[in-house]
Amino acid sequence: MKGIFIAFEGCEGAGKSTQMRLLSDWLTAHGVKHVLTREPGGGQISEAIRKIILDGKNSEMTDECEALLYAAARAQHLADTVIPALDRGETVLCDRYVFSSFAYQGYGRGLSVKFLKEINAYAAGHMPDVTLFLDIPPARAFERKHGADPDDRMEQAGEAFHRRVYEGYCKLLKRYPDKIVSVDCSGTKFETSARIVETLLERGFFGRENG
Ligand code: TYD
Repeated sequence: MKGIFIAFEGCEGAGKSTQMRLLSDWLTAHGVKHVLTREPGGGQISEAIRKIILDGKNSEMTDECEALLYAAARAQHLADTVIPALDRGETVLCDRYVFSSFAYQGYGRGLSVKFLKEINAYAAGHMPDVTLFLDIPPARAFERKHGADPDDRMEQAGEAFHRRVYEGYCKLLKRYPDKIVSVDCSGTKFETSARIVETLLERGFFGRENG
């Protein structure tokens, strides 16, 4: 696989899609072929799974079912979108990946790490070259996006849930310092974007001569 796989992580409203767009602009300006995609989703089948997971009407979904559906969407998305792009030598910018499952279904819902690692051993056969954690506490992030979406089952999970998710991400950062990099998001979106580019160049991606 020749391409670079970059995953974006963070709480709701952390600005992942904005930062992915800004990085995409930078990559285009520097002639780097890339695709933007998201989890759960990205392709037709995974987008259908996404609808089931997030549908506010599915309030009786068990935590195990939720975790398995995220893993199922991941397996499909990896096969139909991520791996083919990496094989073509393109960079993949992915909105969320397996650390979302550890943070949300593990720390948020309370499912065991063993269960999540087991199901994701099938689903996440290829890991990102780097995962960028956009660090902003959930209370501030929800403030930025003017509250939780009433139709989104995950956003409606409550303040305590989202606090556990954020604390979970902080623990994951300590546990996987070689895989996840924290990005301070307290400044403007352009400051954060510049930090992301700098972080990637420092780690040897895209060659500084291109920057
Ligand atoms: P996303 O589209 O990134 O939502 P947002 O843009 O609002 O942050 O992700 C959809 C939701 O799915 C989000 O609430 C996080 C959740 N999620 C999990 O709980 N586990 C997972 O493995 C993934 C990929 C997402």
